[in-house]
Amino acid sequence: MKGSRGDRLSSADRDPAGATPLLELRGLTVSVGHLPVVAGLNLKIARGEAVGIVGESGSGKSVTWLAVLGLLPGSLAVEGEALLEAENIIGASEQRLSQVRGGRVGLIFQDPISSLNPVQRVGAQVIEALRLHRGLRGYAARTEARRLFELVGIPDAERRLDRYPHELSGGQNQRVMIAMALAGEPELLVADEPTTALDVTIQAQILALIERLRREMNMSLVLISHDLSVVAEVCDRIVVMYAGQIMETGSTRSLFASPSHPYTKGLLGAAPVLAQKPQRLASIRGHVPEPWNMPPGCPFEPRCPYAMPACSAARPLLSNLAPDHQSACIRAGELPALARHGPT
Ligand SMILES: Nc1ncnc2c1ncn2[C@@H]1O[C@H](COP(=O)(O)OP(=O)(O)OP(=O)(O)O)[C@@H](O)[C@H]1O
Ligand SMILES: [Mg+2]
Repeated sequence: MKGSRGDRLSSADRDPAGATPLLELRGLTVSVGHLPVVAGLNLKIARGEAVGIVGESGSGKSVTWLAVLGLLPGSLAVEGEALLEAENIIGASEQRLSQVRGGRVGLIFQDPISSLNPVQRVGAQVIEALRLHRGLRGYAARTEARRLFELVGIPDAERRLDRYPHELSGGQNQRVMIAMALAGEPELLVADEPTTALDVTIQAQILALIERLRREMNMSLVLISHDLSVVAEVCDRIVVMYAGQIMETGSTRSLFASPSHPYTKGLLGAAPVLAQKPQRLASIRGHVPEPWNMPPGCPFEPRCPYAMPACSAARPLLSNLAPDHQSACIRAGELPALARHGPT
């Protein structure tokens, strides 16, 4: 059952020790044939927490969340668990998943035009979400749709409800997508590259909107982005993915103050990061390995300036550097010194 707003924790109470996470992924694996594209992911999202997922193209960011929400084609096999509080939604019925999607979990995708129905008025699409997830109809549904349009900053909301997607700008369509995602009063908002298709000024506005709504509605947020500056601005915690695995995760502050995986360091750029402002992903030589060409040990080893023979022997597991910081690099502890003296 979905908790009422009053049941939710304030952000000050978020993630008290021992609290059940809102969502927990346990050993989530997605395979094409026998080849994993997401390999045994473990991740907890607390109530009210904002988690940023970053990594280069092809690292498994989208597939992870499509798998959780039952949106992958049948050609990809999903194993493991995604516990929405006590309920494992991996393998749940389509009927149950369609209640979860847009209900407890709202979704925003990169490209609003391909996600909205081009031949249906945008207001009708929001009203449909309100009917499905909150049982609203008629005047009540239209009034609530208008309120949501106003909430997400669509000017002249009453008239825009009757427009088709092609009659609105990219930024306005993205706001419609956000209004739709909020229609079911989600506890978790998953936003996959929500600003990538937009120009820079509109990107900043949409990001500020997501941030404001998250705080006002006390939602958890999963924000997927190529752009470290985007997630650093909005998220409490960052998960760095590579080749379907978590390379490093930590509080935003800790990850920027002491990046503890060579891949994260690569993303942040080669310069000392302590005083550095968050920036876009720096380019790293080489590319993400394909699932059929995965190195036997650490997947980053072929590109890593600090690699040594042990790195290709076995896949390193995530280990604790601090309570809020984990790295999957066997040289994590040595990295600050290695960075000072240069790669060996
Ligand atoms: N439908 C599919 N069939 C087969 N392989 C797929 C499919 N969708 C994704 N993959 C593979 O899964 C891997 C992860 O893809 P995913 O889309 O999750 O990457 P991503 O991190 O979201 O990248 P981007 O930043 O480009 O969005 C890639 O190797 C991709 O080729
Ligand atoms: Mg993606």
